[in-house]
Amino acid sequence: MCGIVGYIGHRQAAPLILESLRKLEYRGYDSAGIAALHDGQVTVRRAEGKLKNLSTMLLREPMTGSIGIGHTRWATHGRPSENNAHPHRAGDIVVVHNGIIENYLELKRQLLKRGTHFSSETDSEIVAHLVAEKVAKGVDFLAAVQRTLREIRGSYALLFLNRRDPTRMIVAKNSTPIVIGSGEGEMFIASDIPALLDHTRKVAFLEDGEIAEVTLGGYRIFDGKGKPIKRPVKQITWDAVAAQKGGYAHFMLKEIHDQPRALADTFRGRIAFKDGNVALEDIKLTVNAVKQIKRIHLVACGTAWHACLVGKFLFEEIAGIPAEVDYGSEFRYRSPLMDPKSILLMVSQSGETADTLAATDIARAKKAKILSICNVIDASIPRKSDGVLYTHAGPEISVASTKAFTTQLTALYLLAVALGRKNGKLKALEARKLLRDLMHLPHWIEEALKLEGEVKTLARDLLHSRDFLYLGRGINYPIALEGALKLKEISYIHAEGYPAGEMKHGPIALIDEKLPVVVLAPRDRYFEKTISNLKEVESRGGKVVVITDDAKTAAEIPAFRVLTLPKASHYLTPIVMTIPLQMLAYYIAVLGGKDVDQPRNLAKSVTVE
Ligand code: F6R
Repeated sequence: MCGIVGYIGHRQAAPLILESLRKLEYRGYDSAGIAALHDGQVTVRRAEGKLKNLSTMLLREPMTGSIGIGHTRWATHGRPSENNAHPHRAGDIVVVHNGIIENYLELKRQLLKRGTHFSSETDSEIVAHLVAEKVAKGVDFLAAVQRTLREIRGSYALLFLNRRDPTRMIVAKNSTPIVIGSGEGEMFIASDIPALLDHTRKVAFLEDGEIAEVTLGGYRIFDGKGKPIKRPVKQITWDAVAAQKGGYAHFMLKEIHDQPRALADTFRGRIAFKDGNVALEDIKLTVNAVKQIKRIHLVACGTAWHACLVGKFLFEEIAGIPAEVDYGSEFRYRSPLMDPKSILLMVSQSGETADTLAATDIARAKKAKILSICNVIDASIPRKSDGVLYTHAGPEISVASTKAFTTQLTALYLLAVALGRKNGKLKALEARKLLRDLMHLPHWIEEALKLEGEVKTLARDLLHSRDFLYLGRGINYPIALEGALKLKEISYIHAEGYPAGEMKHGPIALIDEKLPVVVLAPRDRYFEKTISNLKEVESRGGKVVVITDDAKTAAEIPAFRVLTLPKASHYLTPIVMTIPLQMLAYYIAVLGGKDVDQPRNLAKSVTVE
C-alpha cells in the first residue's frame, strides 16, 4: 500500500506534493520521491526513509515545475532504497505506482531481451519502460498508456508524466484507489481524500479498469475500451481526521473493512494456477531442501501466535510436515530440539517483536533454516531470516491487530501449499482446488462484513457482561482464542478462549445466565459435537451466541443469537470466522466508550522483552 499524489496548475508542484504526501504517510513510509516537469526537463528527487528525508533533500536541492507527481512507498517488490523509490523513469516517461504487477517477471524478461536497462528491483519500473517504448515510436501518450494496460495484470493506481507533454498527466486504476480533485485552474490526483482536502473538496473517483487524462482544464475519463465516461463531481464533507480514517470512526474499523483488499494483495502475483504452484519470491527453498524438512517451529507473540496455531494445522495436513508452536517469550528460554533439518518460522506484523526475534539466536546455533512472515519490509525479523514472505497488508495503525492477522493466515496457507507441492505431498489437482478457494476468499470476507449491523445489535445486548467465553474446535479453536484476545485488549472485559470439548473438564462451572458464550460452529467434522457442547451451556442458562456457516440448520440451533457466515472452504474458515469476532470486540469497545485505536497499556510494537 503506497501513496500517490499528482498536481498540475499554476503553483510550484514539489512543495504542494510534499505536503499532500504527508497526509498519505499512513499508507507507507519506507521511501518517497517527487518528479516535476519544467521547460522540457524532468527532475526527480528520491530519498530512503520517512518523508522528512525527502523534505530535507528538497530544501538543499529545490525543484521547479508546476506539473509533478509524488509517491510515498510501502515496499512490495524490492527492499526500501533510493533506487527502488518512485518515481521511476524510462526515456520520456515517469511513473508512480501503487499496487502489484502480477506478470512483471514475464514482462521484465521480454524487456531485457529487447535490451532494456533496469535501474531498480521494482515491478513498477517495467510499466514506465513499456509506455516509454511506445511513446518513443510516436504513439500518443494516452494511447501508449492504454496499450500498456492491456499488457499488464495486477492491481494498480498508476500516474504518468511525459517529458514531451507538459499539458497532461495520465492516471489509471485497477483494484487500488485513486481520486481526482478539481481546483480553480489547477487539478490534483491522490490515492486518498486526505491528501486533497487542503486544496479542494470537489472530487471524482476512478473505477477499476478506467483511465483518465488530467489537464489544467479538468479531466476526461475513459473505460477499458477507450469509451469516454461521464463521472459527476462529488462534494466531500468529511473533516481531515475523518478523511484519514476513510470516513470510518476508527482506524480499527477501517482496517477491518480493508481485509478483502489486504488478503487479495497477499496472494496476488504468487499463484501459478495452471500447475497448482505458489511462487514465493523471497523464500528460496529447493525441492531437495523441502523434502529434508523434518519439523517446523512456529514462533510468535499474541495475535500472531494464534495465526501460528492455525498454521500448525495447515503445515501438518496440507504439507505433511510436523509443526510445533511456541510463544517467543517461552521459546527463547527452553531448549527446543532443532537441527539443520528444522525450520524456524517467525510470524510478526511489525517484524520488531523482541521475544520473537530472540528465537533466531537459538535457530542459528542449531543451524536450522530461518524463515519469517512479516508485514513490514526489511524490519529486524525479516533481516535476520534466510527467507521471508511479506503479507502486503499495508500499515496497520490501530493497536489491535486485524488485517495483519488474517493476512498472516493467508500467508501461512500459501506457504503450506508451496511446501506441499515441493515435497510431493500435495498433488497439482488438490493444490489447484486450494488455490481456487483462496481466490474466493476476498468475496467471502465481503459477505462476512455484511453482518456488521447484526453484530452491532449483539454488541449492544452483551455490552454489560463482565466475562465472556469463546469456544471453538480444531482449526477454529485458535480463532476462539483470538476473539477473546480482541475483546480483552480493546474493551478491558475479561474473556477466555477454550476448546469446546474441554468445557466439561472445568469451565462449565462458570456458566450462568450472565455469561455470554460465543461458539464457533462451522459445518465441519466437529459440528454435531459442538452443538452438543452448546446444548450443555444452554441448559445451564448460559447466553449462547453461535457463529456458523450452515445456513440450512442455523434456525434450529438453540441459542440466544445465531450469526450466519458464507460457507467457505475448510482451511479458510478460520479467516472468515475471525471477521464477526473482530467486529463484536470493536462495537462492544466503542459502545463502552473505550479508546479503540489506542487501548491502555498497549503498544503497537513490543521491542522490549
Ligand atoms: C493483538 C496484538 C498483539 C501482537 C503481538 C505481536 O491485537 O496486536 O498481540 O499480535 O504483540 O506483534 P507482532 O505481530 O508485531 O510481532
